Amino acid sequence: MSLKGKRIILALSGSIAAYKAVYLLRLLKKAEAVVKVVTTPSVDHFVGELTLSSLSGEKVFSGLWNENWSEHVSLGTWADLMVVAPATANTLAKMANGLCDNALTAVYLAARCPVMVAPAMDADMMIHPRTQANLQTLKADGVQVLPSGTGFLASGLEGPGRLLEPEEIFEAISLRLTEGPLSGKKVLVSAGPTREALDPVRFISNRSSGKMGYALAKVASQMGAEVTLVSGPTHLDAPARVNLIPVLSAADMLEAIQTKASAQDAIVMAAAVADYTPLKVADQKIKKKTGDDMNIPLKRTLDILRTIGADKPAQQVLVGFAMETENELENAQKKLVAKNLDFVVLNSLREAGAGFGHDTNRVTLIHRNKEVQALPLMSKEAVAAAIWQEVCNILALH
Ligand code: CTP
Repeated sequence: MSLKGKRIILALSGSIAAYKAVYLLRLLKKAEAVVKVVTTPSVDHFVGELTLSSLSGEKVFSGLWNENWSEHVSLGTWADLMVVAPATANTLAKMANGLCDNALTAVYLAARCPVMVAPAMDADMMIHPRTQANLQTLKADGVQVLPSGTGFLASGLEGPGRLLEPEEIFEAISLRLTEGPLSGKKVLVSAGPTREALDPVRFISNRSSGKMGYALAKVASQMGAEVTLVSGPTHLDAPARVNLIPVLSAADMLEAIQTKASAQDAIVMAAAVADYTPLKVADQKIKKKTGDDMNIPLKRTLDILRTIGADKPAQQVLVGFAMETENELENAQKKLVAKNLDFVVLNSLREAGAGFGHDTNRVTLIHRNKEVQALPLMSKEAVAAAIWQEVCNILALH
């Protein structure tokens, strides 16, 4: 990834994790970014100024009291992006409250560019309500707060507060500074199974792992989109920068999607939504009766795609999935028309390595004009990229 000529302020505050910022600086320089380093006074305890100035090829801005008294202002207007990594609890607190008693906080207040912070601290400091409130304030001020990792901390404790790895911060910077084909677009993806409750302890569900939907959300975000992921229960972590809305039943999923649908440029329904739900949900656990078989009356759920398809704004791209075992193309084509879709992603259950639970998939895209695009067996992320590419092509025609 080239960041040639991009102007980045790399701001360090005093944490053991400051050594990772040295690696980050190397990655940024290798990508040909112009990097100016800003430090708080306590960084001296962890990384020497000579290391930072040698690697950046620029003088480090470390104190307010030098001959160039307005350097914080010129830096703040110079940069394309300011990245605070590591961001300690103390520096985050100062930033959230507008204090400017050192070079870093003064540059932050003067910055006109987007600002990103990568927190690093001990687990208890991270979960403290004050730190959490400060992070919320910063988010409300438009600062991009990168997640912290969970794991082994320098104190010997384990938990949240680990600075992200240099490569992960670099990826977030690259994404922020480079326009993707879906930049400025809002997209919604549904994923996973739904759960239809029978009683307080039982439900009907299906084998969907959510992998295809999560891959779609991840790739859309990497392509620059603002992504909402409405997901039934899965074992997967939400991809970075994706707004996850967890739901359980088909009815919950419909409600979550309906409130967001009209604002989206594209919606891809990858969820395996239950077609039927129990007619009644028992208030108490259903007891077995000796000797009797049991029947559960089911009623149809509302078809989410059909519902949003009926109200689809003219500019919106709507994509559905179909899983067929016979008359595949014909049935998929019928779905496309009935649900007012732009194209259908036909999943083949006959292929080894495709469908539920696998990391790969083989799909065929079926378009309104009956064009059929058969894709080879590939990773779900590659399938997701092909689907978004098709969405981009349609959006470009609107
Ligand atoms: N879908 C939906 N709401 C439902 C059921 C399905 O939005 N209540 C969506 C799915 O997310 C998927 C597409 O509709 O995008 C699948 O269509 P569906 O008619 O359910 O087809 P299949 O499940 O593939 O097959 P069948 O018609 O045999 O049920």
